[in-house]
Amino acid sequence: MTVPSLGKDLLGLEPLSREQIQLILDTAEPFKEVSERAIKKVPALRGKTIVNLFFEASTRTRISFEFAEKRLSADTVNVAAQGSSVQKGENLVDTARNLESMRIDMVVIRHPSSGAAQFLAERIRSNVINGGDGMHEHPTQALLDMLTIRDRFNRIEGLRVCICGDIAHSRVARSNIWGLTKLGAEVAVCGPQSLMPGAIEELGVTVFRRIEEAIEWADVLNVMRLQLERMEAGYIPSLREYYRVFGVTLERLERAPRDVLILHPGPMNRGVEIDSRVADGPHSVILDQVTNGVAVRMAVLYLLAGGRPELAEAAKGDRGGGA
Ligand code: CP
Repeated sequence: MTVPSLGKDLLGLEPLSREQIQLILDTAEPFKEVSERAIKKVPALRGKTIVNLFFEASTRTRISFEFAEKRLSADTVNVAAQGSSVQKGENLVDTARNLESMRIDMVVIRHPSSGAAQFLAERIRSNVINGGDGMHEHPTQALLDMLTIRDRFNRIEGLRVCICGDIAHSRVARSNIWGLTKLGAEVAVCGPQSLMPGAIEELGVTVFRRIEEAIEWADVLNVMRLQLERMEAGYIPSLREYYRVFGVTLERLERAPRDVLILHPGPMNRGVEIDSRVADGPHSVILDQVTNGVAVRMAVLYLLAGGRPELAEAAKGDRGGGA
């Protein structure tokens, strides 16, 4: 059987096949152990130079990519819009081409505009990884979500996963829908009508209007952040009302017919979309998601650099197997 490759870039999960998504998840498995070592470093990407180009705020994704790159022995540079020539009006492609002139190999980009990662990938030779573009996709977040679900259930196929909250603005929701449906999960969404994209059913998902129904149905809830920076537009009456109607509370989970696994991509609004007792309680794997993020990103970097999946195990040692 031929092993699928990822191609030049990782821009989203929509263009990936089921086999390519499985390849990334399987390649992440051996990399998990590297982060548990006293010396968290393997030589797989020695000599590669990676730029983390972040035009939007990030804690988890930026730091997780940086750890992944350093643990694979790549050289990394972080560029934020603030403090760079972007503030003087330099455009995205000029910034990237100047970085390429310094002989870089890969760019991880986060950008507020949907399509920015693809726009860049079509214009530079380096591999481009989408670290979240506008309302479009956040592929590595969905991959780490799926790895965390698979860790708990040993499968994704046939599981019932409901993505709750602000679906309309969420790149995480979109990447999860693409990834989970390709891997054979039953996917649903639940949230206020005002935060639901039009024709969402066309993506092959069920729509729940009541959080109680979603909880009764689901094996897994992936709770999206209410994007407070967008809420001035009047999508919901108030945060208190949102919590009352759609909040994932302990009382609601306790009425569920089975244990429901709780995910949240972060950053969380405690007491808005999720109850602190749920976020910190036994149903939650929110911090496991963060741990898995490093392994997933190591896998993506390794594969895009040409690393062979069957050598990922060997790449963890000092004896070669590097990309
Ligand atoms: N989940 C996520 O993308 O978090 P950050 O915005 O902190 O990177």
